[in-house]
Amino acid sequence: MTPLNHFTVEKFLIRTSIISVNNKIIASSHLSYRDQKLHFGNYSLDDIVHGIKTPFYLYSLDVIKNNIEYFEKSANEVFDDVSIHYAMKANSHSKILEKVKEQGCGVDIVSIGEYRLARKAGIPAGEIVFSGIGKTEEEIDYILSSEDVIKSFNVESIDELELLQSLSKKYRKKTPFAFRLNPGVNAKTHQHISTGGANHKFGMTSSEIEIALAQSFSHLELVGISIHVGSQLKDFSATENAIKEILEILRRNEINEIDFIDFGGGLGISYGPDDDDLTSAPEYFQKIKNCIAPYFSGGKFPQVLFEPGRFITGNAGVLITKVIRMKDNGIKNFVILNSGMTELIRPALYDAYHEILPISPKSFSTDIYDFVGPICETGDFFAKDREALKISKNDILVIANCGSYARSMASNYNAREFASEYFLEDLV
Ligand code: LLP
Repeated sequence: MTPLNHFTVEKFLIRTSIISVNNKIIASSHLSYRDQKLHFGNYSLDDIVHGIKTPFYLYSLDVIKNNIEYFEKSANEVFDDVSIHYAMKANSHSKILEKVKEQGCGVDIVSIGEYRLARKAGIPAGEIVFSGIGKTEEEIDYILSSEDVIKSFNVESIDELELLQSLSKKYRKKTPFAFRLNPGVNAKTHQHISTGGANHKFGMTSSEIEIALAQSFSHLELVGISIHVGSQLKDFSATENAIKEILEILRRNEINEIDFIDFGGGLGISYGPDDDDLTSAPEYFQKIKNCIAPYFSGGKFPQVLFEPGRFITGNAGVLITKVIRMKDNGIKNFVILNSGMTELIRPALYDAYHEILPISPKSFSTDIYDFVGPICETGDFFAKDREALKISKNDILVIANCGSYARSMASNYNAREFASEYFLEDLV
């Protein structure tokens, strides 16, 4: 290891190699400098990346496996019956889905495209929950017309419920479904990834759910209730309020038993200095248990379902990119990269922070840069006024925490090619 005698190095190592929550280390982003070479896990990127066309994504299946095991172990320490459904919108690469399956998890899908990918990767239909406000007749029909019975359609409107009923009747099936509640809560996260507010398009209000409960749907079976109040959640209070609302609906409608409660995704990962206040997985599960346990104390405890996306793949991938040129205009010191918002749109869309690190720094001194892409948009940036290790033309850089919502949100704007994806374990 490089001696941690330089403040900046220490700062970078803390930011990049450790995901700590309230000073407790919960997982590692697996990036660290050893002998002045950036390592991903135990491998020096300098030894791996040469000869591969940049930009490209590099993922680690071992990290994904560790993340799933950690999530599962933490949940199983608190609950008796846990079902994990990876939110494949985070990253639906076939090898990742195969790993998810190998680890015994199901998936959360939001389109028929995701459904096909999941089935192709061997994920059983019974391990799939289908979320989304805009499920079309074609999508629902595609699933119901087959032999497959998925675990649940998480329904987000009365209109969708009526469609599900009529298609289930057509195929003479009794279809399992859950209500997705819009609890009208304000999750502390970026406004674009907060989903449980009264003015958000997601889910059904409690009164809509009660109207639906009062009707009879001969070909549907209520198996659960779900929430997903937001992503990269910064505190528990929105989830807590949403759970109270769920329990209130169950109580008012005298539902004492339900197969499952689905808590959605949302557990955050540490991208940078502002993420010190995340809830850790063990803490999160314990808090949920504390909220729901009293309600089910006399009866059957429901299965608890989780749909983690970012927590499983976020820190398991990086984007590797090259410096095309440096450009100092007297006001800004631009580092122009050969990747941009086409490969990672999170900074442009959410002002998201991603650490940027050279794979072979010449020294551990720093400078202030604007890291930008080649796309013809002012919003095409990765970081503004960022203190980073000194960079030169042609350097290869790593953009950290690109395992989730990077490739899956990529575009070919400006007629760019999609960047390739590789797995660390295949390259070493
Ligand atoms: N379940 C449902 C119903 C969801 O809508 C989502 C994410 C998840 C689970 C997984 O959430 P996670 O555990 O990954 O936070 N593109 C944004 C994130 C959008 C998340 C949308 N829904 C980003 O890059 O931050």
